[in-house]
Amino acid sequence: MSAFIVLGAQWGDEGKGKMTDYLAEDADVVVRFQGGNNAGHTVEVGEKQYKLHLIPSGILHDEKLNIIGNGVVVDPKALLEEMKYLEDLGVKITPDKLKISDRAHLIMPYHRILDGLKESARGLNDIGTTKKGIGPCYTDKAERCGIRTCDLLHLDIFKERLALNIEDKNKLIQMYGGEALDFNEVYEEFLGYIEQLKDYIADTSVIIYDKKLENKNILFEGAQGTLLDIDYGSYPFVTSSNTIGGGVCPGAGVGPTMIDSAVGIAKAYTTRVGKGPFPTELDNEMGELIREKGFEYGVTTGRARRCGWLDLVILKSAARISGLTSFAVTKIDTLAGIEKLRICVGYKLNGKVIDYFPASLEDVAICEPIYEEYDGWDDSIAAARSYDEIPENAKIYMKRIEEFTGVKISIISVGPKRDQTMRITDL
Ligand code: GDP
Ligand code: IMO
Ligand code: MG
Repeated sequence: MSAFIVLGAQWGDEGKGKMTDYLAEDADVVVRFQGGNNAGHTVEVGEKQYKLHLIPSGILHDEKLNIIGNGVVVDPKALLEEMKYLEDLGVKITPDKLKISDRAHLIMPYHRILDGLKESARGLNDIGTTKKGIGPCYTDKAERCGIRTCDLLHLDIFKERLALNIEDKNKLIQMYGGEALDFNEVYEEFLGYIEQLKDYIADTSVIIYDKKLENKNILFEGAQGTLLDIDYGSYPFVTSSNTIGGGVCPGAGVGPTMIDSAVGIAKAYTTRVGKGPFPTELDNEMGELIREKGFEYGVTTGRARRCGWLDLVILKSAARISGLTSFAVTKIDTLAGIEKLRICVGYKLNGKVIDYFPASLEDVAICEPIYEEYDGWDDSIAAARSYDEIPENAKIYMKRIEEFTGVKISIISVGPKRDQTMRITDL
């Protein structure tokens, strides 16, 4: 049995979907443990492209069990739409292949509405959320008034909790200038969802444990990235869950002794979507060039992603916080053709050099990145299928990642497709 984590080492969109699909080959079970449909994970197989939000990226493999863990916030409407989208693309989804934790919290219509209203009310101080209701849903979980998937199987309880919540949330919605929800309408809508989803709901912690006893391999698929973590990210410009390695335990109902390795997915440069600090951001022609070459537009919201140089301070922080055992480097092909590349190897803060991401955004704002310059490589890299075929300068660039972070690179990705991937060492 082996259990390993695939997680984002930067601000999300590192290529977790592609890597999960690739590594699912070595797994029997693929588990999402946090986040919700704020995530957008792209998988390309042959000529087909799949955009996944809530459903684990192992779903494209027929024989794998996919689990939406208790730490995920589940919007039933979005989930059913995604199931339909996949079925239209020929991916069969049955309760044998997909399980949803009975402890997962539900994103309700009032969460989506409040996400939007609160963002508007923040004005220039908005976070730039995906407006999918993620923050308000996790807020209710912590406030202990959330509705869970197990409540869908007890209609009387569901009805009671829904009534209480709608009464409470309508006050808030109206205070923010929104339109109150009608209890009966929401209740009727949910009766339809319950009918379609009830057979998928199960105690997934028990299932994962049984699979471990059967010696099966388990892959935990992260969403978002280290710097969007609620505790260790660039707070308050973060998401509302623990995206780091430690998030797996509470988010999937497993103990820390079960995990063998954690792979941090690292894009060969840095991007972020939404607001917040970004020390190596390139707010210039080079940033635009990288955005166009890498097609850096959000999968969930379509927003242009902000682009910048590779930041090893961030990768080293990710290695420490998530206990990374290796990195998978993606999109190294996107940098092809750029003559001189820069890598950030420290921040100068109040006259001192630091190699970790500070807690206070006031400190981050005055951090000056320290750069090293590297020679680029050409387009031939996208055709590389073994380490030997990788241009020498790209090898030097990647060696610097290993040297600075003390973490090896186990996988190199040179394009979006499954076969544009090289396994270098164990995870
Ligand atoms: P995720 O959220 O971490 O799963 O990443 P996204 O799917 O949001 O964004 C990554 C994008 O890069 C997707 O369009 C992928 O198809 C694409 N991609 C992944 N790996 C590579 C790679 O090595 N090279 C290139 N050119 N594209 C890649
Ligand atoms: P994947 O899994 C990149 C960002 C939003 C915003 C902040 C809070 O595809 O890497 P939220 O809606 O979660 O309350 O928004 O987090 N964000 C992401 N950025 N990739 C993601 O997911 C993201 N999910 C949320 O843009 O800045
Ligand atoms: Mg994404």
